[in-house]
Amino acid sequence: MPSETAAPPGATGDVLEALRDTRDRTLALVAQLDDDTLARVHSPLMSPLVWDLGHIAAFEDLWLAHRAGGLPLLRADLAEVYDAFETPRAQRGELPYLRRAEALAYLEQVRERVLALAADGTADGFLHELVLRHEQQHTETMLQTMELAHLPAPAPAPAPASAPAHDVAAADGALAALTGLELVEVPAGPCRVGAPAGRFAYDNERPCHELELPAFRIGRAPVTNGAFHAFVAGGGYRRPEWWSREAWAWKEQYDIERPAGWTADGCEWRMDRCEPLDPSKPVVHVSWFEADAFARAHGARLPTEAEWEKAATWEQETQTARRQPWGDAPDGDAIATHANVDQRSFGTLPVGTHPHGASPAGCLGMVGDAWEWTASRFDGYPGFAAHPYREYSEVFFGGDHRVLRGGSWATRARVATPAFRNWDHPQRRQIFAGLRIAKDV
Ligand SMILES: [Fe+2]
Repeated sequence: MPSETAAPPGATGDVLEALRDTRDRTLALVAQLDDDTLARVHSPLMSPLVWDLGHIAAFEDLWLAHRAGGLPLLRADLAEVYDAFETPRAQRGELPYLRRAEALAYLEQVRERVLALAADGTADGFLHELVLRHEQQHTETMLQTMELAHLPAPAPAPAPASAPAHDVAAADGALAALTGLELVEVPAGPCRVGAPAGRFAYDNERPCHELELPAFRIGRAPVTNGAFHAFVAGGGYRRPEWWSREAWAWKEQYDIERPAGWTADGCEWRMDRCEPLDPSKPVVHVSWFEADAFARAHGARLPTEAEWEKAATWEQETQTARRQPWGDAPDGDAIATHANVDQRSFGTLPVGTHPHGASPAGCLGMVGDAWEWTASRFDGYPGFAAHPYREYSEVFFGGDHRVLRGGSWATRARVATPAFRNWDHPQRRQIFAGLRIAKDV
């Protein structure tokens, strides 16, 4: 194992506690859904929710009990059913996956083995963190399924004691009026890209490296519903000159006229509620194609990944990168005071809700609310080494996947870092994804 991928020593106790907390939240997500709803295929893009539960158990058993602990798989018969590569999402509805009661029992049995191994002192901090984040990331995928299916959100988890109430009225009125079209300038010069050593990171965030970028301008806030609605109402989906050829063909083929989840009469779906569109909230459920068209229509473009990360973390005065846009506070619950993350609001919040979350460049909402599409295709950084398995990211390199940054309201706090790279095909809209525009200087 390359030394820079190792979790810091002593992380295991914290990780075991986090595994317990994460499991509680995972189970709470589906507690109010009936068995049929859990087992149903709600969208060809998504797995049945109960498949995600069994897959979480299978992944934990594979990495912690089998590979790290040397035990035989608890359910070798299910290995293929829960292998995400053997069975693409579109086919998962046909698999003999466990239904609710069996899936919950499987989760519990695997966890018992893992805790028994940890009690023996054989726990591997890095792999525990990997398994923990895998489960947390699947809960965001499950929330995508739930929003597509208009299913109810669970009761929100109690906010951390340090979190202020979300109160945009208390924020600067000028911030509340941002639309996402206001730009800040980031001067030419160096920046750092990727996750530094000494903490957990995925292989695709490493090696951490420095880059020189020309000056650029970038949105002070993510593009809001209000700005996107003006684009729709102004004929944005009927002007081929703003769309790439490929994007236009996709839009025509599927008759796309507005972001997914928006209705023709000015409402948007948030979980099981259809609410009047709030112009001050960041837009979500747009594809990369739509994000790119919006930017072009405004004489702008999407930022590259490196530009996005520089705008989120780079401090000009000290010429160093921050861990989070607002400072070097550790990841985790501290984020809740600075960003809309951790599945607490079940939707985006008005831009300016977290004025203390601003980056050194003055950008708001870089982390949380909505993932932001970047111009960059997903590939390895120079010197990339797959770890601990090729299927996490390397097999996706070199395709048409575009990188998304910053996490969303549905991203668990532990996972939401400016170095984290998400990716998907340019036509996908199930992600809680919007955009931030950029321009050359
Ligand atoms: Fe997975």
